[in-house]
Amino acid sequence: MHIPQLLQQRFVDALKDLTDDPDAFASMIRSTTDPNHGDYQCNSAMPLCKALKQPSREVAETLVSRLKVDDLCETPTVAGPGFINLKLRDEFLTEQLRAMLGDARCGVAKTQQGGSIVIDFSSPNVAKPMHVGHIRSTVIGDALARTLKFLGYQTITDNHLGDWGTQFGIIIYGYRHFGDPQVVNQNPVPELSKLYRHVNQLIEYRKALASKPKTIEAIETATNDLAAAESSLASLPAKEQKKAKKNIASQQRRIAGLRDELQSLDGKIQAVESDAALMADAQKHSDIDTAVLQETAKLHRGDPENLALWEQFLPFCKDEINRIYDRLDIQFDHTLGESFYHPMLGPIVEKLETMGLASQSDGATCVFLDGFDAPMIVRKQDGAFLYATTDLATLEYRLKTFQPAEIVYVVDSRQSEHFEKLFAVADAVGTGDVKLVHVNFGTVLGEDGKPMKTRSGSLIGLESLLDDAVDRAKQVVCNPDRLENFDPPMDESEQEAIAEIVGIGAIKFADLGHHRTSDYRFNLDKMVALDGNTSAYVQYSYARIQKILERAEKAESDVIDMVESHGIQLTHPAERNLALMLLKFEEALVAVHKDYAPNMLVDYLLETAKVYSKFNESCHVLRAESPTIQATRLMLVALCGRILGVGLNLLGVGVVQRM
Ligand code: ARG
Repeated sequence: MHIPQLLQQRFVDALKDLTDDPDAFASMIRSTTDPNHGDYQCNSAMPLCKALKQPSREVAETLVSRLKVDDLCETPTVAGPGFINLKLRDEFLTEQLRAMLGDARCGVAKTQQGGSIVIDFSSPNVAKPMHVGHIRSTVIGDALARTLKFLGYQTITDNHLGDWGTQFGIIIYGYRHFGDPQVVNQNPVPELSKLYRHVNQLIEYRKALASKPKTIEAIETATNDLAAAESSLASLPAKEQKKAKKNIASQQRRIAGLRDELQSLDGKIQAVESDAALMADAQKHSDIDTAVLQETAKLHRGDPENLALWEQFLPFCKDEINRIYDRLDIQFDHTLGESFYHPMLGPIVEKLETMGLASQSDGATCVFLDGFDAPMIVRKQDGAFLYATTDLATLEYRLKTFQPAEIVYVVDSRQSEHFEKLFAVADAVGTGDVKLVHVNFGTVLGEDGKPMKTRSGSLIGLESLLDDAVDRAKQVVCNPDRLENFDPPMDESEQEAIAEIVGIGAIKFADLGHHRTSDYRFNLDKMVALDGNTSAYVQYSYARIQKILERAEKAESDVIDMVESHGIQLTHPAERNLALMLLKFEEALVAVHKDYAPNMLVDYLLETAKVYSKFNESCHVLRAESPTIQATRLMLVALCGRILGVGLNLLGVGVVQRM
């Protein structure tokens, strides 16, 4: 049940003879912020009054007189300049709730839209351990896939693994120079990670050495410029001072940023130079960065030895990430990595050339695009293909294989330009009417507001982050004071199972709760609190509901019988608020799809849990005043429990029966 859509249809009928575009005006229906103004309001009278050359209040009155909503609403009222306030009839609410009982879809309509939606998400570069940067694509993509599927879309999830890039050059090099075949064979996953980290650290050291002098120079120049700007400030005319001060402030910020960068470079240099063994390796492998690129290039050319190593290592790398996906309860329909598209790269470049879209520039093959400063390079001078080439081949393959209506790429905002170019080239090649969307997202920051790193400057491993969250969840949920209240007592294995669900859920829910395009600060304490805007709060509401149902000895099927025999009646405002909230579930899900924004569902679940809590404070269920009131309240409780459970599940967050 999508109430605004239902009301919108009625408004379209009422608006038909008043405007050429009734749909646009009818779509101006919103939830009210003040319950005194009803449940929904329609704001179309104000924009419409200009065209009709009538006062907006009069337009609103006319609309109300034409509107046929008796079956849904009490008599609409007009307020202020012409807001049309709509209050749903109690009978309408209770009928809808009655229909939701026993309905696995929770009253949510199935979309009529055909065509599939491909969702490209997670897509880490394997061969290196997953880190904090991989949370967002994985969690947002999974929540979108689950929600769209629930809405009835045919979804195709695809993990576009980076299984063919430089990271393999790194482990091949590492294996050859630092690896012990026997140790690697015995314990491949941790050993390969170790080799990756080791070689990467040496490369980072080289890079840091090379960029340190440049950074120092940049700081010096910026500091001199700043001093000059500061000393000339007083002599400037008053009008120009404001602007100059702004420039000074921005210069100061830039210097602070450069200093941070220098500090991080020093950290990388220190980490190697303070360790004799590392330092010896660094000296011996002074050309490690180019050597690694050569190993990668050899692999791409089909060098049999490198190819054999790649084939030997890849399954282990996949095992490693699959372990994390299992823990996160994430599945994909397909995992077609970059390597899968390798044979298609030459042909796609040829196709672009034949179509006259690609041309040579400085030995490289490029697609020049209107509106972009730089072209899209699809083949480098040395013949190597690029990330963009693979994405073009991937797109062509997906169009041919899945014939989707929509392809959604859940990828970091820093790749926005890449996708703008990709979509522009796709448009030039011709993709039919498929909708291509870059669902971009911001960065996870540490508590200091900077990208989250470990002390040595590397990104924090995803697994250790999950472990920390689970530990924290255990401290919060299973502290001795709380444990006293459980009967039968909670044994160790139940405590661990709860901590895992609450801890992992906390990380996902906190991530999804921020609008995807904004950065957010990672704060475990806040994420796992029982009384904040957290999954633990919603999970706790769910568990309390299970307890009430258990005490009442009523399953949802029993509640159906109860309302059949005793009827339904809303007698308290807290009941009505909860009823209305439960009927807004579909609205929340549709909003998630509209902007690819899972935070809309997070907000809905938090709001519902809060409204439930008010209901729980003011309405007795087990000691209700009459059988009808009890049947009504049990219905609300049962439906609320189910919607919270289903809603959390759509976010990839689990529930527990007690906590
Ligand atoms: N592997 C890439 C990275 O880690 C992300 C791939 C996203 N998907 C795509 N089709 N480009 O940056």
